[in-house]
Amino acid sequence: MSARILGDTLSLIIDQGEDGLAHLTWFGPQAEEEMAAAPGFQCLPASPDIAVGPALLPEHGRGFHGISQVEGHCTATHRRIRLGQPELIEQDGQILLTAEDAALGLTVRTRLRFDGDVLVQEGSVSNTGAHTLSLQRAASLLLPAPDWASEVRTHAGAWGREGHPVTHRWTAGRIEQSGRSGRPGFDGGPTLSLTETNAGVAHGRWLTVHLAWSGPFRLAAERATDGSGQVLAERLFLPGEACLRSGETLDLPAALMTRSGAGSNGISTRLHARQRRQGRSLRRPVHFNTWEARYFSVAEADCIGLVKGAAALGAERFVLDDGWLKGRRNDQTSLGDWTVDADLFPDGLTPLIKAVHAGGMEFGLWLEPEMVSPDSDLYRAHPDWVLGWPETDLATGRNQLVLDLALEPVREHLFTVISDLLDRYAISYLKWDCNRDLYPATRDGVVRAGAQTEGLYRLLDRLRARYPVEIESCASGGGRIDAGIAARTDRFWTSDATDAIDRLNIQRAAGLVMPHERLGAHVGPSPNPMTGRQVSMAFRVLAALFGHFGIEADPEKVSEDDRRVLIRGIEIYKQHRDWMHAGDLLNLSEPDTDPDVQLVRADDGRQGLLRVMRVGTPMRPLQSRLRLAGLDPAARYSLSEIALDGTPTHWPLGAFSGAGLMNEGLNLDPGRALTGRLIHIERTG
Ligand code: DGJ
Repeated sequence: MSARILGDTLSLIIDQGEDGLAHLTWFGPQAEEEMAAAPGFQCLPASPDIAVGPALLPEHGRGFHGISQVEGHCTATHRRIRLGQPELIEQDGQILLTAEDAALGLTVRTRLRFDGDVLVQEGSVSNTGAHTLSLQRAASLLLPAPDWASEVRTHAGAWGREGHPVTHRWTAGRIEQSGRSGRPGFDGGPTLSLTETNAGVAHGRWLTVHLAWSGPFRLAAERATDGSGQVLAERLFLPGEACLRSGETLDLPAALMTRSGAGSNGISTRLHARQRRQGRSLRRPVHFNTWEARYFSVAEADCIGLVKGAAALGAERFVLDDGWLKGRRNDQTSLGDWTVDADLFPDGLTPLIKAVHAGGMEFGLWLEPEMVSPDSDLYRAHPDWVLGWPETDLATGRNQLVLDLALEPVREHLFTVISDLLDRYAISYLKWDCNRDLYPATRDGVVRAGAQTEGLYRLLDRLRARYPVEIESCASGGGRIDAGIAARTDRFWTSDATDAIDRLNIQRAAGLVMPHERLGAHVGPSPNPMTGRQVSMAFRVLAALFGHFGIEADPEKVSEDDRRVLIRGIEIYKQHRDWMHAGDLLNLSEPDTDPDVQLVRADDGRQGLLRVMRVGTPMRPLQSRLRLAGLDPAARYSLSEIALDGTPTHWPLGAFSGAGLMNEGLNLDPGRALTGRLIHIERTG
């Protein structure tokens, strides 16, 4: 039996051999499918007397010692789960694999399909037996790794420094990216890539796996002693979490996988296309956010002043960040009491919202619904609603505790509170924050980290079904960026670091999986509050231009010269955003190299914007030529530099062929440290 499914250009073939095992014989370009071959299984010396290697739904009892997709045992009989040979069905563009442990009564279903060129694997485990089953693992995806994979790419990071890329040589053993904190975390979340040696942004083979899940996770690449490899993506079950009682079914989060022969850019364009199909298509208004302008010191009259300043700069959405709720003057109090502070906003939010509308903007509001401050009316009324209950002396994080979203009354309460705000006020946007990890993620000692994530999803789904409000996923910056939350939100706050230099890398790392228009990028104050660095307004504007643009600084403190540059930058963003946000963002330089070079290319290939960000002083006074990518070699392009200050606003650079620009490269002045250049590329023939 052979089953084959097709993506746009990729295909996947699974063959069930005489051995009854399901073998992945092909995952690659359709055009090269003739190279498909069953893995060369052989009996090796000092090994089992049968051929053993990575199959789908592999089974330990046959002498396979790698990771299995489902592992566990029956708590009553202590028998381990032992899956029989899978049944393979191809149906409506999907491959369904079902395996059973008939003795215990366990059914494992896994479904593979393409969404564009992204393979989506989903599944479930059902207990049809009489006893409770304790699972150690129920992975969403476990597939043989390609032979060419010699490196594993993960990310590392912390608050304000999210997502630094890390490359590991993968010769033996297991390399993993995992998160146990209950949020995907600052280190890049549930993504892992396999590459060939020295693969880069625009060359070399990549395969990337991402788990659409915002709770504890593990992704891993493991090589067995026979040299074969597997790649894994799973929801991580913490102790006791995966107990499947008789009659229960556990749905597993979707895992996404794609590959490219053209570097990480090829991965991104495929994943972005999938994320765009799944998300809402929105025009992204220029944000003004109060946080770095005021932090907790927000009040009606002052905010109305900010509204005027923001509108004059060209902002289109005013977001009132933290500080507006009853009694909250710092981070030590009031979360959970989602009523407007009457001292700060005596007539509620209506006067401010009216001013926002009068300024031609929409209104957005910050919330942190999952949290509660011990010093709050909500906690005093419901101390049993928090994770960790009934433990006392619970460890706080940013002085707050986490509400147990697995509890239906908690979700109901939050739905009512948020609905009240949305019904009462014209709020088009929620900045949904989450400023701490889950610890202990228990109720009465029983772990419920996954149940917390599912509770959050349920709450968001219910709100989205009722209100058209746009939602941003923020978790102290980029602590929750994954395709699970992306299905329920519209934008990410990628980091609390608004330092333009740091932000270049942070945006780039988040952009491997998420499309650039979903990644908030704001112009912050200078000197930057986090790093103290002073960077020109032009550099700050350019650093934010390819994301969802916003402002996070007090307009009154922006000098006249900087104001002109910022206003011009906003005009450029508005002029180009429609095509930029539907186009491909290609990295032209490798991460952590200088200059940082990116190109946004319109979907129809008619135009593009090239951004060159020089961070340090170049070693050579004359720059080596800059080779472009993603153009039509046979077409001609006219290039002009867009100036952010001064006139004229466009400086012609010349007309060139696509082949010339990609093979020979553009001759550009390298510029001084901390200068950026923006070049418009127009196809002329
Ligand atoms: C963390 C967010 O990342 C910031 O932008 C801001 O909203 C603060 N929380 C507010 O407490």
